[in-house]
Amino acid sequence: MKPDHGQLIYEGKAKRIFQTDQDDRVLVEFKNDATAFNALKRADLKGKGKMNCQISAYLFEVLQAEAVPTHYLSQVDDCWMIAQRVEIIPLEVVVRNIAAGSLCRETPIKEGEELSPPLLDLYFKDDELGDPLITEARIAKLGLISSDQRLEIENLSFRVNILLKNFLKRLDLILVDFKLEFGINKNGQLLVSDEISPDTCRIWDQRILDPKKRILDKDRFRQDLGGVVDAYGEVLKRIQGAFSNDRTCS
Ligand code: TMP
Repeated sequence: MKPDHGQLIYEGKAKRIFQTDQDDRVLVEFKNDATAFNALKRADLKGKGKMNCQISAYLFEVLQAEAVPTHYLSQVDDCWMIAQRVEIIPLEVVVRNIAAGSLCRETPIKEGEELSPPLLDLYFKDDELGDPLITEARIAKLGLISSDQRLEIENLSFRVNILLKNFLKRLDLILVDFKLEFGINKNGQLLVSDEISPDTCRIWDQRILDPKKRILDKDRFRQDLGGVVDAYGEVLKRIQGAFSNDRTCS
């Protein structure tokens, strides 16, 4: 059921953000729209919004349990969550544990190569420019964030990586790489924001060796492999299993 909401604040490719009756809170609606290659490729994937909302809520809970500050407050309905209102920093932070995607297109590094220590890449979040890779010097020149904030973002991202990688490993899921966005709330606190879902992560099934069949994330859509929603469903099912086991054990 659609919750009561105020005015639309922002509409992105996969989510809509609405006002609530509290200034510091927003309602986030997860859409079924899937896009890739800066929205050159589009589809409506029934059930995707609901699954990404639930997966994100669970993963934000995993992080919050370890004192990682996130914008997530609660899930209100299948496709909706309440989050702290933040100003999004226009950077996409990608942490990579295994080489895939643009890293293999843009460097001689071969897909599947383990990256130890993990690699952190920063991108400038700007659709018109195609979200280009950005350097420390360009971030400073554009005045996007201070170097202290950049260090805080990088440290938090590596911490998120360890927590998510270990959590997913227990479920036989390999966290290949993922993208985070950060926001600043009205108190000036830096929060992991946006979403953490198979739209924004690469996740491989550790139980499957076949390099295509093991893909449980948006690469199924990017590469026309089919079974996108089923793959997201498998990720959700395993995460739900972990949460219900924890509840039974405690
Ligand atoms: P990349 O290999 O295309 O650079 O993607 C790295 C990770 O970031 C991958 O898990 C997918 C995610 N990602 C997004 O969430 N949004 C984007 O716009 C892009 C390009 C990647």
